[in-house]
Amino acid sequence: MQLVSMKIVIHTLMCLMMAMACRNVVGDVEVKEFGRTTEGVAVVATLTRGPIKLELMNWGARISRLFLPDADGNSADVVLGLPTLRMYQNESDDPYFGAIVGRVANRIAGGTFVLDNVRYNISRNEGNNTLHGGKIGFDKVLWHTKVIVDEKDGSESVQFTYHSFDGEEGFPGDVKVQVTYKITSEMELLVHMTGTVGNKSTPLNLAQHTYWNLGGHNSGTILNNTIEIAADKVTKVDDSLIPTGELEEVKGTPYDFTNPREIGNTIEQVNGYDINYALKGGQAMKIMEHTVHFAAKVKEPKSRRTMELYTNQKGLQFYTGNYLPGMAGKDGAVYGAHDALCLETQGFPDAVNHPSFPSVVIPAFHNYTHIMLFRFSTG
Ligand SMILES: *[C@@H]1O[C@H](CO)[C@@H](O)[C@H](O)[C@H]1NC(C)=O
Ligand SMILES: *[C@@H]1O[C@H](CO)[C@@H](O)[C@H](O)[C@H]1NC(C)=O
Ligand SMILES: *[C@@H]1O[C@H](CO)[C@@H](O)[C@H](O)[C@H]1NC(C)=O
Ligand SMILES: *[C@@H]1O[C@H](CO)[C@@H](O)[C@H](O)[C@H]1NC(C)=O
Ligand SMILES: *[C@@H]1O[C@H](CO)[C@@H](O)[C@H](O)[C@H]1NC(C)=O
Ligand SMILES: *[C@@H]1O[C@H](CO)[C@@H](O)[C@H](O)[C@H]1NC(C)=O
Repeated sequence: MQLVSMKIVIHTLMCLMMAMACRNVVGDVEVKEFGRTTEGVAVVATLTRGPIKLELMNWGARISRLFLPDADGNSADVVLGLPTLRMYQNESDDPYFGAIVGRVANRIAGGTFVLDNVRYNISRNEGNNTLHGGKIGFDKVLWHTKVIVDEKDGSESVQFTYHSFDGEEGFPGDVKVQVTYKITSEMELLVHMTGTVGNKSTPLNLAQHTYWNLGGHNSGTILNNTIEIAADKVTKVDDSLIPTGELEEVKGTPYDFTNPREIGNTIEQVNGYDINYALKGGQAMKIMEHTVHFAAKVKEPKSRRTMELYTNQKGLQFYTGNYLPGMAGKDGAVYGAHDALCLETQGFPDAVNHPSFPSVVIPAFHNYTHIMLFRFSTG
């Protein structure tokens, strides 16, 4: 279906090997060195199409910048990020800005679970619990970068791959993961995540952890944004944000966003949102051979930028940047509490310890697919 453009790949590799100041402009994608890690060269790949400019980084397969036009055609970078590779590498500086998190996104209670009669112990990085895959999750590794050319229209996309070994951070079995970022039309971004599991079953539950502020990454809080979330229920959590196993109706609570509503109105009642919604499956459409459903819509009143999210996942973690500490971001920005929101589609949190939740275990020799389609508009 898709062919790797060898020309671009070879050009990119030579560029990197020779440590040239790489302004590798071939088609839509430009690849530049961003810094060095002990594992190799970190690069940023910039993908441009129409009015959208997307900057990606192979450190954590992340979105580091995304420029979108507003209602008057003014462009702004609508995702939070950091100024240096060193900060992206430091767990105290990087709250997973724009990254792919895994092998298992969200929390695993006590950093442990039983699968096929074996108790696995995962690296714990949030008190007694595991968050987003452990100390060295998929956000803290270097992924391989490839530029892919669409046979049909010649458009380019960026693909990151990572081979996670048996026992990595305590997880069972070998798994190869792949994330492709593609601007599918003038105002659409497709994030296509896949995983191929080896000869041992393993939980696999990736999430794309972009911090959005549709007014611009340095424009203040998202409190006056309106949001709609296609869900009647959330997975109830205890004080350490671990699900109790119960699903709770949102009707009549501050969690109810079944109709579009301003985030700031009720945010204080819940000390900031950080909760998984059980998506009910809004309007459907087909992407490749998969069915995706409408999951959420965010609207920023000043720029009038709007984002709709469609996915094939069952859960959506809605997080309102509650713990952003007034930290130094890219381009001189300072990020404080509620300066962004995250819409992390995924399986349910701690599903490995809740038999009543949909399973996130992928059996041996099976594949995982996770699709996010973002539709942007100004209106
Ligand atoms: C990591 O970040 C913390 C907080 O900003 C800082 O105190 C520490 O020195 C950083 N570590 C490295 C290795 O840069
Ligand atoms: C840590 O988690 C394990 C497994 O859930 C639990 O048995 C243990 O009591 C927890 N320890 C603390 C200190 O919370
Ligand atoms: C995990 O820890 C438990 C108890 O400490 C131990 O019995 C078990 O063998 C460990 N699991 C693995 C896969 O090492
Ligand atoms: C499973 O695959 C690994 C390589 O990923 C290999 O070393 C191992 O022998 C295989 N185990 C079985 C039972 O086939
Ligand atoms: C929304 O908040 C932003 C940032 O605080 C502010 O610039 C903008 O004027 C507000 N818009 C409305 C319509 O209140
Ligand atoms: C899983 O994905 C791999 C790589 O894309 C493919 O070769 C294989 O046929 C797929 N397996 C299944 C069971 O769908």
